[in-house]
Amino acid sequence: MRLKDNVTVITGAGQGIGEAYARRFVAEGAKVAVADVNREKGEAVAEDLRRAGGDAIFVPVDVSSEEDTKAMARKVVERFGRIDTAIANAAIYYGIDNQNFSLEYLKKIFDVNYFGVWLTARAVYPYMKKQGKGSIITQTSDAAYLRFPVPHGDDLPSFHYSVTKAAISALTHFLAASIGPHGVRCNAISPGPTMTDATKKTVPAETLAMIVQGMMAIKRPLESEDLCGTAVFLASDESAMITGQVLSVNGGMVMHG
Ligand SMILES: NC(=O)c1ccc[n+]([C@@H]2O[C@H](COP(=O)([O-])OP(=O)(O)OC[C@H]3O[C@@H](n4cnc5c(N)ncnc54)[C@H](O)[C@@H]3O)[C@@H](O)[C@H]2O)c1
Repeated sequence: MRLKDNVTVITGAGQGIGEAYARRFVAEGAKVAVADVNREKGEAVAEDLRRAGGDAIFVPVDVSSEEDTKAMARKVVERFGRIDTAIANAAIYYGIDNQNFSLEYLKKIFDVNYFGVWLTARAVYPYMKKQGKGSIITQTSDAAYLRFPVPHGDDLPSFHYSVTKAAISALTHFLAASIGPHGVRCNAISPGPTMTDATKKTVPAETLAMIVQGMMAIKRPLESEDLCGTAVFLASDESAMITGQVLSVNGGMVMHG
């Protein structure tokens, strides 16, 4: 077990990649708070983890609310006494409208996908700072690094999803530089196309095939479980001197450096 008693809060853990993180972290001995705006799904995941012998709770949160994210952090500390790891994974991805270029929609996506990450980090940081140790893991996306032209009419596209993810990568760097002196690290995981229900609903099959065959060195899309080892690594002391990094887990789709 690589994360024995590590207290981890994971936003957006009610389904998809966040759920996979929760399952793997419990298997590695972590105490996990499943945080999600979807109460039914989040409670079901936490209940399932407990039935399997894990130490897990559900915490309701809308990550775009400062009040909610503060309450989330407080509840985790009340129940488990500390916060070692926070994975800011929640985002509007399932059912996202890629053709909605309105300002209102752009703000909505920023509210959850970007401000939600910042608010999550802001809520857990005081506890980590007090501990003198902690790992914040943000969830960006390789969509931030792909510059596909977006089909559009007269309206200029807003590039909403991709730009929020690019902003998260930048935030990760700024956070890491500022919180490092207090023993707290911040790194991002940047997944390539991962076969969650959200991807199946959002990404057309022909686009996915074009990405896998045309852009990835390893010719298959990811499963959520492909991302879990990186999350465990970033939460553990094995990555004690790694901070401010964006780790793409993408079968070689985008190559940094
Ligand atoms: N699946 C992919 O191919 C892929 C690739 C790159 C990055 N990502 C990123 O990984 C993360 C998870 O992706 P996924 O495919 O599992 O997505 P998903 O849409 O299946 O899951 C997102 C989860 O976040 C929750 N959520 C949404 N809004 C919330 C809010 N305001 N407050 C709290 N919880 C909220 C949802 O209820 C859901 O449980 C997202 O950040 C996504 O952008 C996914």
